[in-house]
Amino acid sequence: MLVLGIESSCDETAAAVVRDGSVLVSSVISSQIEVHKRFGGVVPELASREHLDKIVPVVEEAFARAGVTPQDVYGIAVTQGPGLVGSLLVGLSYAKALAYALAKPLVGVNHIEGHIYSVVFDNPPIQYPAFALIVSGGHSNLFLVPSPGKYKVLARTRDDAAGEAFDKVAKMLGLGYPGGPIIERLAREGDPRAVRFAVPRMGDGLPDFSFSGLKTAVSKYVRESGLQPVADGEEPSQQIKDLAASFQRVVVRSLVETTEKLAREHRPRTLIVAGGVACNGALRDAAAEAGARLGIPAYFPSRHLSTDNAAMIAAAGTVKLQAGERAGLDLNADVSLRLGNVGTEEDAARRGRVRYRL
Ligand code: KG4
Ligand code: ZN
Repeated sequence: MLVLGIESSCDETAAAVVRDGSVLVSSVISSQIEVHKRFGGVVPELASREHLDKIVPVVEEAFARAGVTPQDVYGIAVTQGPGLVGSLLVGLSYAKALAYALAKPLVGVNHIEGHIYSVVFDNPPIQYPAFALIVSGGHSNLFLVPSPGKYKVLARTRDDAAGEAFDKVAKMLGLGYPGGPIIERLAREGDPRAVRFAVPRMGDGLPDFSFSGLKTAVSKYVRESGLQPVADGEEPSQQIKDLAASFQRVVVRSLVETTEKLAREHRPRTLIVAGGVACNGALRDAAAEAGARLGIPAYFPSRHLSTDNAAMIAAAGTVKLQAGERAGLDLNADVSLRLGNVGTEEDAARRGRVRYRL
C-alpha cells in the first residue's frame, strides 16, 4: 500500500512516498533556510510564497524518485496543523485538489503525531505503552502513548520550545540560523561545566519544561562577562564554545531527567525521541543512556527524518487510512491543532491554573 505524504507546515516543502507505513520509497525536502537566514527566523509571508513555488515540483520529484505514477498510490496524507496558516494552506489545498482529481482517499495528519511516526523507518516496531519526547523549534512535549493513536501529555514547555531556545541563544551569540546544529558543533569543542546554569524546575512541582529562564541566564552571562557576539566570518572563541556546551548540557539534562523520572512512574516499553532537536548527538546519547537505565530501547529517527519531512506524515497517515479514516474536501488548516488531551478540560483541571503557550 503506497501513500503520498505532503508537509508544508513551516519552512520545508516536502513530499514522500511510503510503502505499508514504514518503508521509505522516496522523500523530497525543499528547505527554505537560505530564504529566512538573513532574518534570523522564519518570515511567514515569504514561507507561503516559497511553498507555492515549490509544491508542484517537489511532489513530482517524489513520484519520479519512487518510480511510480500518482495513480499508483492508495491515498494521500497531508499536514493539517499545527503550523503557519499560509504555509499549511498551500500543502492542504494541493493535497485536496490532487485527491479529488485522482479520486483517492485523503487524511489530515497532526504534525506532532507525524514526528512520533518518524521513528518507524529505522527501528523495530514500537512497543506500547510508549513515551514520545517531541522536541522541535515549535514544541517540547512528552507524551504517554498507551496504544497507537492515543496520546496523553505528561510534560510540556511553559514558554520557549527547546529548539527555539537553541535558535535564540545562537542569535544572541551572532552564530546564525538555525541555531541547533551550530551550537551542537561548537559544543563539541567546549567545556560543558565551564558555566554553571541551573536546571530549570517548576515552583509548583509539576514536571514541566521551561527554557526562557535559561535563555535569560545566558544573556546575563554574556552581558556581565563582556562577551562579544561572533562577527561574520570570524572563528568563535573558546569562551563561546564553552558557553554553547554549558547551555546544551542544561537543555539535555532538563529534557532527559524529567523523561526518566516520569518513565519510572509510568513504565513505558519504548522511548521515542523525535523532532528537529532529536538531531542533537548529546541528546541522543543521554536519552539512550536513560533508556538503558530503564531497561527499554530508545528510538530516534535517522537524522534526515528528524527535522520536518513528509515521510513521517505518510507513515502516520497510513495508519489512519488503514483504520478507514477519510477527510472531506472541507478539511481545513488548524494552526493550533492539538494532540491527545493537550489543552482539554481534563488537562487543565489536573494542572490547575498553570497557563501554557500552546
Ligand atoms: O522539527 P523541526 O524541523 O521544525 C519544527 O517543527 O519546529 O525543528 C527545527 C528545530 C530548530 O529550532 C533547530 O535549531 C533545531 O530543530 N535543531 C537542533 C539541531 N538540529 C536542528 N537543535 C539542537 N541540536 C541540533 N543538532
Ligand atoms: Zn516539526
